[in-house]
Amino acid sequence: MSDAPPGDVADDAARRIAWAARGMPVLSSIQEGLTARGALNGLRIGIGLVLEPKTANLALALQHAGAQVSVHCRGRLTTEGVARALEAAGLQVYAERAATQERDAELARGFFQTRPDILLDDGAELIRLAHREHPDLVEDMLGAAEETTSGVQALRVMHEQGVLKIPVIAVSDSRIKHLFDNVYGTGQSCVMALLDITNLQLAGRLVMVVGYGWVGQGVARHAAALGARVIVSEIDAVKALQALHDGHRVQSLSDAAPDVEIVFAATGVAGAVTRAHVERMQDGVILCTAGGGAFELPMGYLNALGTATEVRPSVTEYATPAGKTVLVIGQGDCLNCSDAEGNPIEVMDLSLSLHAFAAEGIATEGRNRPPGIYPVSPQIETAVAQARLRHEGATLETLTEELFAAMHSW
Ligand SMILES: NC(=O)c1ccc[n+]([C@@H]2O[C@H](COP(=O)([O-])OP(=O)(O)OC[C@H]3O[C@@H](n4cnc5c(N)ncnc54)[C@H](O)[C@@H]3O)[C@@H](O)[C@H]2O)c1
Repeated sequence: MSDAPPGDVADDAARRIAWAARGMPVLSSIQEGLTARGALNGLRIGIGLVLEPKTANLALALQHAGAQVSVHCRGRLTTEGVARALEAAGLQVYAERAATQERDAELARGFFQTRPDILLDDGAELIRLAHREHPDLVEDMLGAAEETTSGVQALRVMHEQGVLKIPVIAVSDSRIKHLFDNVYGTGQSCVMALLDITNLQLAGRLVMVVGYGWVGQGVARHAAALGARVIVSEIDAVKALQALHDGHRVQSLSDAAPDVEIVFAATGVAGAVTRAHVERMQDGVILCTAGGGAFELPMGYLNALGTATEVRPSVTEYATPAGKTVLVIGQGDCLNCSDAEGNPIEVMDLSLSLHAFAAEGIATEGRNRPPGIYPVSPQIETAVAQARLRHEGATLETLTEELFAAMHSW
């Protein structure tokens, strides 16, 4: 990501990790409790989250609590300096920014040789890989936690089909995660990443948001706040109606394709934007993903054109047979993670604090739980919310006996 000499890269990463730590008071307070209770002491924890300064702080907090921490991350989602800084801090790091697909697979094999007891995953990539290629390891694992919507969705299918062999805590399903991380965090970071990468302005542009779930709502809100005219495409009529009530135009991507200037895919579903859609789009249209990954865009079709040119860092231009150009940001990966520094520090403080608690919960409960998907407990959600509220100097109304009685009377 940087042309600076290695020493500078490591220094820069160390400063970025320290900067993130300053904005993560909740994780920092949890770290003390985790260390004191000792449940993670000596356990092997494997982390598969996007490798950037905030997740580095989670990894360091778990190490501080006595765990042996290993990290694997796909090349495009790795911040090189952060990977090397964690290595220097004594973690086992299997992540290289420049890794090819083959090298990533090799790094993943090295990661699994650390025989993690617990996996903290994003997109269920490691959990799926472990079940496919390392069933012997899965037998011995205590469990896992999953960060994102599409990961939990895949794990539910695995469970329905009877192939999931470990208990997984669905961090993604927690209100603390999707209400803040997906809406405010991803909304802000994806829109800002697009603007930073392209140096364009959003005001007055016609922006299509494909999918109006948590992420789509956040992207639409942030784009509209910067003056974009937002169109939402949905397959769910109620979500589409919600978009309409939020003040956005609602139109299918097929219908709006000729008019849109920028497209954010935010569905988590493969093939949300198709070749047929792209062929109807105007010259110079910009495509990017805020959702699950490059699989939402027709990257196979675009790459097969054989016309890809990097016209600016993180911006690839494709010439189509119809004589038009299509611009893709960050090779179609989630642009906030692959080509920017991920979600804002405050929201990641919340999400990663849930992971820290989830790791402790798996350490203490994992062996007693049959395979399945488990929620983050309401007590943990409340503890994380309260820690943040305390930090902000906010106060809560007391639920008095009178109020409780009033709420439970008829
Ligand atoms: N980039 C990030 O940092 C980040 C952060 C959080 C979540 N995510 C990912 O973003 C994706 C969306 O997450 P979410 O929490 O908003 O999920 P969600 O399930 O709340 O929303 C997805 C929406 O897409 C709609 N949809 C599905 N296919 C569609 C299609 N072809 N056309 C139009 N609409 C379609 C669904 O009806 C749904 O409303 C997931 O893959 C999630 O893992 C990314």
